[in-house]
Amino acid sequence: MKTIEVAMLGLGTVGSGVLDILKHDQEKIGQISDTDFKISRILVRDIAKYQKAYPNLNLTTNFDEIIENKDLQIVIEVMGGIHPTKEYISELLKQGRTVITANKDLMASYGLELMKLANKYSGKLFYEASVAGGIPILRILDQNYVGDQISQIAGIINGTSNYILTQMADNGWSYGQALSQAQKLGFAEANPANDVSGKDAAYKLIILGWLAFGINLSLDQIRVVGITEVTQEDLTAVEKFDYTLKLIAKLEAKNNTYNALVVPMLVSNDNMLAKTNNEFNAIEIKSYAIGSSFYYGPGAGKLPTANSVINDLVAAVKSEPIFDTAWNCEMPTVKDIFIRQYW
Ligand code: NDP
Ligand code: HSE
Repeated sequence: MKTIEVAMLGLGTVGSGVLDILKHDQEKIGQISDTDFKISRILVRDIAKYQKAYPNLNLTTNFDEIIENKDLQIVIEVMGGIHPTKEYISELLKQGRTVITANKDLMASYGLELMKLANKYSGKLFYEASVAGGIPILRILDQNYVGDQISQIAGIINGTSNYILTQMADNGWSYGQALSQAQKLGFAEANPANDVSGKDAAYKLIILGWLAFGINLSLDQIRVVGITEVTQEDLTAVEKFDYTLKLIAKLEAKNNTYNALVVPMLVSNDNMLAKTNNEFNAIEIKSYAIGSSFYYGPGAGKLPTANSVINDLVAAVKSEPIFDTAWNCEMPTVKDIFIRQYW
């Protein structure tokens, strides 16, 4: 069995989940990958915060220790944010290293640029954890719709806002109470503004658009309305009519026209999306050959998200060509395509 040295940028919710799974499932991961993954360096901002819980880890606040150490072949980026993350990942890819990221803000904003960089310098960039947490939706899109034509992808792809709506509707919690609990449980971003404004779901829709349609939407091409204006009264009122209010992200294609939105919508209670509660995500894909298929699971949280990172880690050493569509294609932007307003 070979040993591969790995560095991690960040040791918060997802980073601690990666360490947990690597320890808990060490034997199985070793057998499948024929690799002993050794986490040799972890970048954080405040070492003192982590020393008690992780006395044996090699923590650093200095990225130079990672970029200068070429033995660290794989780097897991779970620190979030766009800067300096983009600069760090760019430097790593330019050295031909493998990067695994859970960062949808970065991927949606600069992912194609980073993929081109990876291609040019023989680096690799994996990003399964960036969309829908524990649901392997990017692999599914990349590998299981090869001969099929997708017409629509829609669902719930932000766990925090879904958790808030569920708690407000089912338990009568206030918006603030539910948001604060979502933060405590590790579902929300460090700054939850994108979760509740719909921007986080819009970022994920951009990434889904690459793999579902080969298009590269920009944020301003998506109609985005968050949940900040939703009131307790709204939620109670819709219940009477057998509906549930959900933050729905939807990207549909019709005759070369794409309709892209993230909007709170009424969902009939007999629809599976209405039964998708708390941090769970659900995505329905409509396509020519399969018809309708539905993918459901935890869309945020420590272990489900870390599981997607581990899948990428194993895929990286097995040299699996993941997400070829996004990797190799020149992505057209949709600037020439009319984006319909939803209403
Ligand atoms: P956390 O806020 O829990 O953890 C972030 C970690 O990164 C902390 O250890 C922090 O260190 C470190 N960090 C942040 N900025 C820097 C920096 N500039 N330099 C060095 N270290 C830094 O975030 P999460 O684990 O929740 O999220 C990480 C990434 O995963 C994000 O991109 C997020 O969008 C994504 N993600 C998160 C999911 C979730 O359920 N939480 C699900 C799917 C994706 P320190 O504490 O010292 O500041
Ligand atoms: N904050 C995100 C969410 C994490 O709540 O969905 C998963 O991407």
